[in-house]
Amino acid sequence: MEDSKKIINTGLRGVTVASTRISHVDGEAGKLIYRGYPIFDLSDKTSYEEIVHLLLHESLPDEQQLIAINDRLVANRTIPESLIAALKTQPDNALPMDILQTAIPMLANNDPNAAEVTIENAQRIAESLIAKIATIAAAWHRIRNHLEPVPPDPGLDHAANFLYMMNGKKAEDVTARFFNVCLVLHAEHSFNASTFSARQIASTRAHMYASVAGAVGSLSGELHGGANTRVMQMLEKINSINAIDDYITNVLDTGGKLMGLGHAVYKTGDPRARILAPMSRQLGEITGNPKWYDMSVTLEEKGKKAFKKKKGIDIYPNVDFYSASLYHYMGIPADLFTPVFAISRIAGWTAHVIEEQFGGADAKPVLYRPASDYIGEYCGPEECAFVPLDDR
Ligand SMILES: CC(C)(COP(=O)(O)OP(=O)(O)OC[C@H]1O[C@@H](n2cnc3c(N)ncnc32)[C@H](O)[C@@H]1OP(=O)(O)O)[C@@H](O)C(=O)NCCC(=O)NCCS
Repeated sequence: MEDSKKIINTGLRGVTVASTRISHVDGEAGKLIYRGYPIFDLSDKTSYEEIVHLLLHESLPDEQQLIAINDRLVANRTIPESLIAALKTQPDNALPMDILQTAIPMLANNDPNAAEVTIENAQRIAESLIAKIATIAAAWHRIRNHLEPVPPDPGLDHAANFLYMMNGKKAEDVTARFFNVCLVLHAEHSFNASTFSARQIASTRAHMYASVAGAVGSLSGELHGGANTRVMQMLEKINSINAIDDYITNVLDTGGKLMGLGHAVYKTGDPRARILAPMSRQLGEITGNPKWYDMSVTLEEKGKKAFKKKKGIDIYPNVDFYSASLYHYMGIPADLFTPVFAISRIAGWTAHVIEEQFGGADAKPVLYRPASDYIGEYCGPEECAFVPLDDR
């Protein structure tokens, strides 16, 4: 009896719930691989469109395939007028992730074939969603600032087009190039919380839109995708290199979190942070405002030391740590950082939904249904006798 009262909260750490061919995170070696290719090569050499093809269609595209997927994404960028009208009814201070999550089922409402769960339809919806979610995030940013949404520019790639739709003017080449790298880096990360949410919903045979809407909600939390916004808020709160020591001491003494540090899987460093940091440094130099990058470097060094001293373990920056200052240098407002994460990760989510539902000849889709340990009440050795309302 006493044993059954032991609290179980594993967070599923280390539990393998399914096989996947999409990506691999090696936490000890600090490696990330999309369908066999190391992230260091992909981030340096590919466009987000190539990554979408790799994740959804299982191979890097040849020239013709790249033209074709780019054409399909461009053709899908426009969002329904009724959705824009609905966004205009929402309060300006609505959380952008809530807006994004609200918008996904509205796209389903406008898709007469939303509910057909076939691989062809799932791939069609996946590409449509990947194209449209960027338009929604940018449109919301315009609408909340009382500006008209900017229609997508078919001549721009996915990364440059998002920045254009958000700002109403084309980004500098270096900014668009670095933003493409960010989209590549955030596109996929095996069974993270939001992807697991998407797969778990897909396992019920719910449609693609339902799975993606759930994943957006999961990503919004500050321990997951929401951390990038919180990193920027933390930097702004500290505001000076001289105040970093006191901030760290206070956070660690009060059981708080140093946002953007630590990871559930990477225990020797997150490879994505190593790619993001130099881009943040470069944009800090180009914009003549290295403060946020410099503060991040000092916070990393001092945070690491303090954490080792306090907890005896090593802690490293995760993907959200340097992306915060980098996005800030790109002119993206802090509360859009997590939607920006979503407009990239949607490639991974949709690939996982397809794998979950149609995994291939050797896959056997199964409804997720974990077990739990009941530690609630019994009345003595028996279940409680029901007491009618009047007698309680
Ligand atoms: C991501 C995160 C939830 C992983 O946590 P985890 O799986 O428990 O990681 P670990 O097992 O290495 O943590 C060991 C201990 O350090 C603590 N810890 C880990 N990261 C921490 C951080 N950034 N600040 C303060 N404490 C932290 C954990 O709470 C845990 O404490 P405990 O032993 O008292 O329970 C955690 O690192 C975190 O909260 N980071 C900040 C939020 C963040 O950046 N999220 C984005 C992740 S990509």
